[in-house]
Amino acid sequence: MKSDQSNIKKAVKYLNRDMCIGIPTETVYGLAGNAYSGKAVKKIFRLKKRPISNPLIVHYPNIKFLKKDCMINQNFLRLYKKFCPGPITFVLKLKKKSKISKIVTNNKKTLAIRFPKHKILKKLLSKLDFPLAAPSANISTRVSAVKSSDVKEDFGKKIKFVLEGGQSKIGLESTIIDLTKTPKILRLGGLEVSKIFKILNCKIKININPKIKKAPGQSNLHYSPGIPLRMNIEKPKKNEAYIVLKKKKTSQSNYFYLSKNNNLYEAAKNLYLTLRKIKKKGYKSIAVAKIPNFGIGQSINDRLKRASRF
Ligand code: TXA
Ligand code: MG
Repeated sequence: MKSDQSNIKKAVKYLNRDMCIGIPTETVYGLAGNAYSGKAVKKIFRLKKRPISNPLIVHYPNIKFLKKDCMINQNFLRLYKKFCPGPITFVLKLKKKSKISKIVTNNKKTLAIRFPKHKILKKLLSKLDFPLAAPSANISTRVSAVKSSDVKEDFGKKIKFVLEGGQSKIGLESTIIDLTKTPKILRLGGLEVSKIFKILNCKIKININPKIKKAPGQSNLHYSPGIPLRMNIEKPKKNEAYIVLKKKKTSQSNYFYLSKNNNLYEAAKNLYLTLRKIKKKGYKSIAVAKIPNFGIGQSINDRLKRASRF
């Protein structure tokens, strides 16, 4: 579309000037800046109120570009062939000659990278001569953004531009796998871990709640709607918002359903939107009915659990 083209042009202009902008991805919206520019990356941390110790994900258009900055290995190639572009982030070793700003990684020797699938973002990446550092476009610890209006709600006039890309199709952040040693899942997310296990013929650890926190998605206070949330509830309290997977016949005004027909992918897509909606309506607490704990349901439950630690 013509408007997409002119929006992409604007995005290129801002990014080339070391500014931060909102970008759409298939998982959630990101707050993006030039990953080679310390100036741009510092702005991301400041805007998000994110501790400098918490490294960012860098988004690449293709493997050729990635090879300038990171070392790749067999496990990476296997997963890349099957799932990229898509909702999976890899932690890889940085090359010595990499141009990635040291602020992105907080001086670490590893880098989290991904190849997003969103068409408009792919187009934007193909027009840049740097990759994009982009954490989720929300204030630290809060619910991620899945629409351009969510990004504007969180950052207001603090950012000049959000690239319009419609509602994120997946609605949960990418699954993170560390491939620097024995493969290790660091965050559950948009790609089911069972699919990853099938491709890698080796043992994989799941380390989503480590003592030493490696990923912020692992921190206790995260994905919080800003009001208390209780899980696995059969009957909500009178004035509580009640989230259910499927619309009930006996729905009341405080009932919010995630899917029309029990579909867990649809539920994932609607989760953050629903949490934001409930908060805006002025509810003081949320109860959530049981969500099946398999496939993408595992990732939904992971986010709810963290949100419930508010
Ligand atoms: O779907 C997504 O991944 C979204 C979209 C915008 O791409 N991005 C996202 O970024 O969720 P963020 O910053 O909210 O989460 C990045 C995660 C954090 O948990 C961070 O600790 C982890 O990636 N991470 C980044 N670099 C790492 C590294 N070198 N080793 C281990 N974990 C790392
Ligand atoms: Mg985040």
